Amino acid sequence: MAADACVTAPLVIAHRGASGHLPEHTLEAYMLAMRMGADFIEPDLVPTKDGQLISRHENDLTHTTNVAVVPQFADRKTTKRIDGIPITGWFSEDFTLAEIKQLKAREPLSALRPQGAEHNDKFDIVTLAEIVGLVKQFEADTGRKVGLYIETKHPTYFRYEGKRIAGAPIALDISKMLVQQLQQLRFTEPSRVFIQSFEVQNLLELKQQLMPALKLKIPLIQLIGDTEKAYLPPQDSFSVPYDVFYHQQQSADLASIYKGSSFVALESKPLDYSVLLNDKGLNFIQNYAAGIGPWRSSIYQKHSLNLKPFVKAAQQQGLKVHPYTFRAEANYLMPKDEKTTFSYNQEMQALFKQGIDGLFTDYPDLALEQRALFQQSCKL
Ligand code: G3P
Ligand code: CA
Repeated sequence: MAADACVTAPLVIAHRGASGHLPEHTLEAYMLAMRMGADFIEPDLVPTKDGQLISRHENDLTHTTNVAVVPQFADRKTTKRIDGIPITGWFSEDFTLAEIKQLKAREPLSALRPQGAEHNDKFDIVTLAEIVGLVKQFEADTGRKVGLYIETKHPTYFRYEGKRIAGAPIALDISKMLVQQLQQLRFTEPSRVFIQSFEVQNLLELKQQLMPALKLKIPLIQLIGDTEKAYLPPQDSFSVPYDVFYHQQQSADLASIYKGSSFVALESKPLDYSVLLNDKGLNFIQNYAAGIGPWRSSIYQKHSLNLKPFVKAAQQQGLKVHPYTFRAEANYLMPKDEKTTFSYNQEMQALFKQGIDGLFTDYPDLALEQRALFQQSCKL
């Protein structure tokens, strides 16, 4: 047991709401998670054509909504490169909010989660403002202050690289839009909001310019993708912070974009996430973020639930560690050996005992049950 594992309760973050039970990123999925007792609910945000922030994991609406069967939107189908990867579908930035409101949410993992798919085409696609409204109403009704753990999706695409269906640049700074909206919505308590991103530039700008300008101190979390260089461009972008890759491709002045930091400018090309987890990388992150969100598949030593040393090293630098994403279905369980897996519950207990600071899960109910058991064991 880690020395301080029993001191602070690890956060249970409902990933896209209680998304193991209901279609993700809907008010219904968020409400279920809050009723279950989640500490935070997690919206991923993408913009609409008219600059509203809506909650979707992808700006490609094909797999999480019914857009493909809505006849009036048939001509919005197109192919774009998102973070360098060609994707054919219908994209949030080509729809006004009024048009988005004509769509309904669908369960993207319908074979795995038929209980969620039973609710296909019932729930609305919602804005950040509606989510804040839900959380405030929940607080008024129950007295419980649930937090928002918000991710800005594809900041570089929306700001620099992406184009609307007719070819005009999108040119939206979604991180700036986010903090401005949070301030308008009066939802900026540092204990109640995190902002997370797989990219670096937007987090640095939030820390150094955007939040100071608004007098905000929202904690930032640097998400970390694959650390094995298994998903490198041009096939994939999950092994690199896409902003750094993009600016490297453009031969841009990295030291100026990364606000005088020589770290990004001097490191490998492409800069991959493993570099951010060595001591120098963690030290760099510690300048702007309150923590890291590593990919769950990269936190364990092989065939064990023992955490890799970078977790403790990050915590010793003062960074919180909130890995993602824990799912209870058999195909998501961690291998114990060639034939067997650890159970979801074993994994929760192992993480809590080793002092993890929080975790993202599609099943907040199961994680909360395990957290309660762990806390009981702390009293023995
Ligand atoms: O934000 C943590 C985790 O949600 C990152 O993964 O792809 O589910 O947004 P993703
Ligand atoms: Ca996310």
